[in-house]
Amino acid sequence: MCGIVGYVGYRNSQDILISGLRKLEYRGYDSAGVAVFTNAGLEVKKAKGRLAVLESHLEERPLNGGIGIGHTRWATHGKPSDVNSHPHTDTSSKFSVVHNGIIENYLELKEELAAAGAKFVSETDTEVISHLIASLYEGDIVKAVQKAVKRMRGAFALGVLTEHEPEKLVAVRLASPLIIGVGEGENFIGSDIPAILEYTRNVYILNDGEMAVLTKNDVTLMTMEGNVISREMFHVDWDLVTAEKAGFDSFMLKEIHEQPKAYRDTMGSRIADGRVVLKEIGLSADQLKQVERVHIVACGTAYHAGLVGKSVIEKLVRIPVETDVASEYRYRDPIITPNTLVIVVSQSGETADTLAALREAKRCGARVLAITNVVGSSVAREADDVITTWAGPEIAVASTKAYTSQLIAFYLFGLYMAQELGIRDSAYIAEVIAALEQLPEQVQAILERAEDMKVYAEQVAKHNSLFFIGRGLDYAVALEGSLKLKEISYIHSEAYAAGELKHGTLALIEDDIPVIALATQGELIEKTVSNIKEVTARGGYVYGFVFEGDEGEMAKSVNHVFAIPRTLPLLAPALSVIPLQLLSYYASLARGNDVDKPRNLAKSVTVE
Ligand code: F6R
Repeated sequence: MCGIVGYVGYRNSQDILISGLRKLEYRGYDSAGVAVFTNAGLEVKKAKGRLAVLESHLEERPLNGGIGIGHTRWATHGKPSDVNSHPHTDTSSKFSVVHNGIIENYLELKEELAAAGAKFVSETDTEVISHLIASLYEGDIVKAVQKAVKRMRGAFALGVLTEHEPEKLVAVRLASPLIIGVGEGENFIGSDIPAILEYTRNVYILNDGEMAVLTKNDVTLMTMEGNVISREMFHVDWDLVTAEKAGFDSFMLKEIHEQPKAYRDTMGSRIADGRVVLKEIGLSADQLKQVERVHIVACGTAYHAGLVGKSVIEKLVRIPVETDVASEYRYRDPIITPNTLVIVVSQSGETADTLAALREAKRCGARVLAITNVVGSSVAREADDVITTWAGPEIAVASTKAYTSQLIAFYLFGLYMAQELGIRDSAYIAEVIAALEQLPEQVQAILERAEDMKVYAEQVAKHNSLFFIGRGLDYAVALEGSLKLKEISYIHSEAYAAGELKHGTLALIEDDIPVIALATQGELIEKTVSNIKEVTARGGYVYGFVFEGDEGEMAKSVNHVFAIPRTLPLLAPALSVIPLQLLSYYASLARGNDVDKPRNLAKSVTVE
């Protein structure tokens, strides 16, 4: 989703803006632009397409100056085009704005401003902001921005410049992420830390409803009412190298290979002497006893992790768990009581629907536990308790290591609840923990056979449609495998509960249609095999995924078998998803797609 970078300091801002925007490319975008104060005034350059297009324009005619704002746009209002790209300016071209989010009442404001003489050139909601600020300006840009924000409804983060006060950069955050980087004689704004990490590790994270005024030697944080805020600076201790490709062809492949480490880091010191230690959460055994039901809420891949989480908690703790897609949750009038524990799952911690669900849950009096990968994210800050997944920065749009780390977080939390409530005895807990601790090595063993998946993927990539089937936890993984394939290879696929196929979908099985069948779930395996036979009898071409030891039997029913190291059925998703990630990756490559930046998608979805 849109990315914002801003700079004020002693260097040439154009270079900093472009390098920052490059670090934000992973969020997904369709156009880019910059505005810089040059000797000629506030100059804007913007272009539809990849950053390289903008760079080629800037090479022809550089914009030299020490203060500027930059933006990568992911279209919401108005198609991707040069004119709809940000920054946007007012009629006099003296004010320039970059924006992430949506202004809900923009049409109303647009009519009012147009009636007063503003000349609109784009279809965007953002352009309204530059005209609005210009119309409210009375010699003080901070006050004009504050007044403008009061008139705007929606979710947004802004970077604002005006030629009238060329030493100042104003930043605003209302529900879309924005951070401030603090340097020596230079300061920065960015949608995310990697955008500025090359230049500084000292960061302020703006909260909703806050703004910042930056000059080259000073940063002032304040409320929208102008009350100055003092805040401790956050020191970033991770390295940019960890956010770079480290020799892999793509971020996705690198992140798939980082999973053994992500598992180890997420378990880390949370396991000691055969017990789970979750010091970071404040839920006492007494509070856990009060929990009557659990709601898990998330979007996309994180939702699929939540489906696994539901089975894990129900099996280990024996309390009812519902898993909801966040965009549906708050509109379905869910029954949330003070004894409901709501678990929100979000890699980025900034997903608008998930954040809205979190707020709704809190409004209804529930305690909220967040599972997130980003320390200091909105979800992390607003939840009562947080389990951080230590997957490290995930850059590829398609989530891999964040998903599997979310699974690890669910295993830990399920075990913790069962242990603290005395529902499972210590021998059982220790057995599951021992199996958990083997997972990193088992993942590594699968990764070493990545070439097998390349062969399958090259076959699959020739088809336009396929199916994923499984029962129980295999079905939850099938959903994730199907999503991954769709998003990066653009091959249509559907995931089905294997027993449900014959209730309609079997009509679509015809000669050679690829079917990915997962069968790792103990007593359900035989039933899945029957469903596989229903498929092969109709010409389906089946790739079976089973535990080592079951491959001989499975080979009788399928065209190819891939065996994963054996673990407890409850933990199977943490292994069986790995070959499916690789399958999607190689299918995407075989089709010549941009693996890390699939079309139409954004990494961090900060609009509803
Ligand atoms: C798919 C994918 C998305 C995200 C979803 C939620 O690979 O990454 O489906 O899982 O947009 O994002 P987060 O986890 O950041 O809330």
